[in-house]
Amino acid sequence: MTAEIDRRPALRDAADAARYAPSIHNTQPWKWTVHPDRLELHAVTGRQLAVQDPDGHMLLLSCGAALHHARVALAAAGWQVRVERPAGDPLAVLHADRQGAADPAAVELFEQVKARHTDRRTVGDTPLAPAVLDDLVAATERAGARLHLVGRDQLIDLAVIVERAQKTESADERLQEEIAEWVGGERSGGTGIPAANLPAGLPLTTVQERDFGTAGTLPVGEGHDSAATYAVLYGTGDDRVEWLRAGEALNALWVAATAHGAGVLPLSSPIEVGYTRLELRRLIGDLGAPYLVLRLGVLNEASTKPSGTPRLPVDQVIDEAP
Ligand SMILES: Cc1cc2nc3c(=O)[nH]c(=O)nc-3n(C[C@H](O)[C@H](O)[C@H](O)COP(=O)(O)O)c2cc1C
Repeated sequence: MTAEIDRRPALRDAADAARYAPSIHNTQPWKWTVHPDRLELHAVTGRQLAVQDPDGHMLLLSCGAALHHARVALAAAGWQVRVERPAGDPLAVLHADRQGAADPAAVELFEQVKARHTDRRTVGDTPLAPAVLDDLVAATERAGARLHLVGRDQLIDLAVIVERAQKTESADERLQEEIAEWVGGERSGGTGIPAANLPAGLPLTTVQERDFGTAGTLPVGEGHDSAATYAVLYGTGDDRVEWLRAGEALNALWVAATAHGAGVLPLSSPIEVGYTRLELRRLIGDLGAPYLVLRLGVLNEASTKPSGTPRLPVDQVIDEAP
């Protein structure tokens, strides 16, 4: 009987929810095609950062995050979802196999998906509890990647790696020009990071945040990052499917963090610069391929919360199959 249900409205809703996924510089480099029986995810190379991300690694992480958003949205509507990840185009195919009663845990997860955002303010003074960190490690592993928590003894090494990567990127004029296309100002096109979401000045932290080369208007707070926990998202290899899965895991851990009132700030520079990525690999004891550095911490409620970043309109990210 269920085979006769038109799945298009549910699939369209899931693709719509996925518009709010995080993406590198809010490029939203994805497009969905809604078929009567399935939802396909495609990468949009026209919104790939050609200079900063020539291999499309950050694009794949972003698309993976969008895929996870769509999966959670379908599960919250009671659908049992099957995911195929062909190595080429489409990047992924979602099949909504059967609909039943929505699992309350999935509904709760979807609430966190909607609440998730990037917060570049300094973190609060209380470190995340070990049980919360354990939960984030477990959420990452369930989603198919791994999380290395950087110990106090490795913090300075990490700070040096991040600083070197930032210096390399800051010295690259073409890369800075590309960033300027996506970051700063009012952003009327539905993409990019508005000034309101960028720190008014870079906070004084041990591990520096990305310097976008343009100051914003977000008050970052008085704090430091001394109570932050840094982590490296990593996995077994470097093929496209592994990067896509890492994006799904990134979102799974981000949503779990949101449920705990914890903030996640990705730092991608040390992954984008070849030699610092190698240094990161050594930092995690050669356990696997590093995909992203993350700052985890209790959100700083003392200062104003940043407003949401813009999103592309539906017709630019969702197609209906004829
Ligand atoms: C793969 C990836 C890499 C990112 N790298 C950085 C980064 O280096 N620095 C930063 O401040 N934000 C980074 N972000 C956060 C994005 O800028 C953010 O997701 C986007 O602007 C949308 O905003 P939102 O997360 O608040 O919805 C990254 C996000 C993703 C998915």
